[in-house]
Amino acid sequence: MKLDIRIDITRAKSAAVGADHGIRLGELRELEPRVAAAHEILRGERDDGKIGFWDLYRDDAVFKDISETARQFLAMKYENLVILGIGGSALGATALLTALKPPYYNLRSRGARKGRPRLFVMDNIDPTTFRAMLRLCPPKKTLYNVISKSGDTAETMSQLMVVVDLIERKLGVAAMKDHVVVTTNPRAPKVPASLLHPVADHYGLKSFTIPFNVGGRFSVFSPVGMFPAAVLGMDLDGFRAGCAAMDQRCATASLQENPAYLRAAVHYLADTGKGKRISVMMPYADALRAVADWYRQLWAESLGKRQSLDGQDVFAGQTPVNALGVTDQHSQIQLYREGPNDKIINVIEVRRFDQHARIPQSLTSIERLGYLRGSSLDKLLAAELRGTVDALKISQRPVVRIVLPCVNAHTVAQLLYMLEVETAMAGRLYNVNTFNQPGVEEGKRIARALMGAEG
Ligand code: PA5
Repeated sequence: MKLDIRIDITRAKSAAVGADHGIRLGELRELEPRVAAAHEILRGERDDGKIGFWDLYRDDAVFKDISETARQFLAMKYENLVILGIGGSALGATALLTALKPPYYNLRSRGARKGRPRLFVMDNIDPTTFRAMLRLCPPKKTLYNVISKSGDTAETMSQLMVVVDLIERKLGVAAMKDHVVVTTNPRAPKVPASLLHPVADHYGLKSFTIPFNVGGRFSVFSPVGMFPAAVLGMDLDGFRAGCAAMDQRCATASLQENPAYLRAAVHYLADTGKGKRISVMMPYADALRAVADWYRQLWAESLGKRQSLDGQDVFAGQTPVNALGVTDQHSQIQLYREGPNDKIINVIEVRRFDQHARIPQSLTSIERLGYLRGSSLDKLLAAELRGTVDALKISQRPVVRIVLPCVNAHTVAQLLYMLEVETAMAGRLYNVNTFNQPGVEEGKRIARALMGAEG
């Protein structure tokens, strides 16, 4: 089966939804020189090692270390893997788990999980949830992977403090190295020192490194996402092949050939020229619902910037919204069709599900259900999707289709990699710093001050 994912912008064009709402080919053509210039800058930043997410999948040594470490820890037969992390340190693993492990994975027996642990991602500090997790995942049965690029995030560090204390009390200090793995910034002269380094040194913990030129939300193909994926038995080679395939497609500045740049251009034009201040990501597959969450952070935190690269106040950014087909047809589509025409809607379509669910010849006394009898849930889902995008077109709402032949490590990696490259290009078109998050840092600082931190 051909695994390439496909982008279809037909329904985002002016020919489909009118010139006020859709993109004219001329507008795309006018943008081409800017895309070409941005492509050169991005290539330069990649070649100079300034921006590192592009090349994470190529690092044989890191992938070898991840696989070997996962094997060692799996031998200890943990019941649970718990990630302590937030934002970019959590959303990637959640997206991968949701996409690639079976539904209700954590509820399956150990046998059905093929001896792999359950996964819990603690990306909040709600005390009720945290305590519930600790009851479900006691130290004896659990491997905790603490992930923080800065190694300084109060939420993650406080979670770690609770866990370390519990391990010390229940299992003793010597057991720490069997139950905690650290993923953080490298130790390097110009890199801010991570507070996780002294913790790792003190307890002799295994540490993975997030390259300094890779931001949290771009780190899914580093140990941040790949170590949990390896522990859960996901196909790391499939991820790497999917990244490589998309990297190759993104090597050109041509909007006809580069799906990430085409999407960046369409979204940028839709936002800045057609008043589409909102970008909806709506997968029609439960497996991809957390990819929409992951995209929401990537798009929001990367592009939502007050200042341009040349220091002007621009207040840039398109608000990302996540939705789920068909569920949100019964929640959001009324607004998307008849409310303000301020959205571009991305629909993710999966051509082949790994299960087929036939609708049997039941309830035969009810004549009106005849159209469903003998059909299947897959066919109904496809019809609902088609019906929704057709209805959106009638209301002149632009839609971009992302088509996955199936959901596997290869196609999911292509999708995530494409969205990362798209975001990097979009940042250049908006002329903002894609890779920082000053608006988040400020809040972190204030919270720390309120907690009585020095300085
Ligand atoms: O994308 C980002 O950089 C952020 O969302 C971070 O991932 C988030 O703030 C957590 O930071 P850290 O990994 O340093 O704990």
